[in-house]
Amino acid sequence: MLVFNKKVDLVAHLKAISTQETSIGLVPTMGALHQGHLSLLKESIRNNDITVVSIFVNPTQFNNSEDLLNYPRTQENDIKKIKTVSENIILYAPTVEDVYEGKTVSQHFDFDGLENQMEGKFRPGHFDGVGTVVKRLFEIVKPTNAYFGEKDFQQLQIIKKMVSKLNIPVKIIGCPILRESNGLAMSSRNERLSEKDKQFASIIYKTISKAKMQFKTKSASMISKWVNNQFKNIPDFELEYFQIADEATLLPCVRKNKSKQYRAFIAVYINKVRLIDTISLN
Ligand code: PAJ
Repeated sequence: MLVFNKKVDLVAHLKAISTQETSIGLVPTMGALHQGHLSLLKESIRNNDITVVSIFVNPTQFNNSEDLLNYPRTQENDIKKIKTVSENIILYAPTVEDVYEGKTVSQHFDFDGLENQMEGKFRPGHFDGVGTVVKRLFEIVKPTNAYFGEKDFQQLQIIKKMVSKLNIPVKIIGCPILRESNGLAMSSRNERLSEKDKQFASIIYKTISKAKMQFKTKSASMISKWVNNQFKNIPDFELEYFQIADEATLLPCVRKNKSKQYRAFIAVYINKVRLIDTISLN
């Protein structure tokens, strides 16, 4: 398996092995890979001649320095996992210097308001950081297709928006959420949970699944109240937000409209570990 730490080397290699007709799939990640990430890799392998995975813990998308410091970095293990999918995957694992060339700052984006909801509200600057690094990865790899998980649904919508507003020639493919057997959405951050908390954390998926059932008959505000109550008295759990929103605009659902697609979004802290999840409602 080829590993590149420098973009010049990666670009030279891609140029040498591809023609106009070669399709390149890109899977951007921050490492600490799990089956969710590997499912994106498998999807890329199935549909492209070349698959590139990037592992880069992007400093500009962290609004909390402790979170950046504590983010798991497990590259040797990651390489082993990538090899279980295919030996032919190309890994780009750059340094901060290689990506940011001495200026570790975000570009500012206008994502038509998608950036002001939920994750954007609670993590100021987060999506400018995500947009900056993903745009840069697109410029380096020039992928035909790029794969993103619905686990980070707001991120997926924002990347689609960025590509359409900036006319970047890449197709963005959203992929389903992979879960542990207890329903907990797979996440690199789960590694920071104790076994006990991992079991407790299944309440997140159980709650949003029940919210989905309730959505057939109840209003968004009634469901939100119910969810808030569910988390009120659980020690070590802190609900940051629960929101039912229109999938296209990410604006909160005030009155249900049959022609719209809705989704529930949730963020919960468990002993300082921040977890997010989402489910489509109709
Ligand atoms: P990271 O959290 O490592 O996630 C990389 C990709 O894997 C994202 O597209 C994410 O949605 C997807 N993913 C994570 N957990 C998943 C799961 N349980 N099932 C399916 N897909 C899952 O998201 C990022 O990194 C960064 O913001 C990045 C886009 C790489 C920019 O730095």
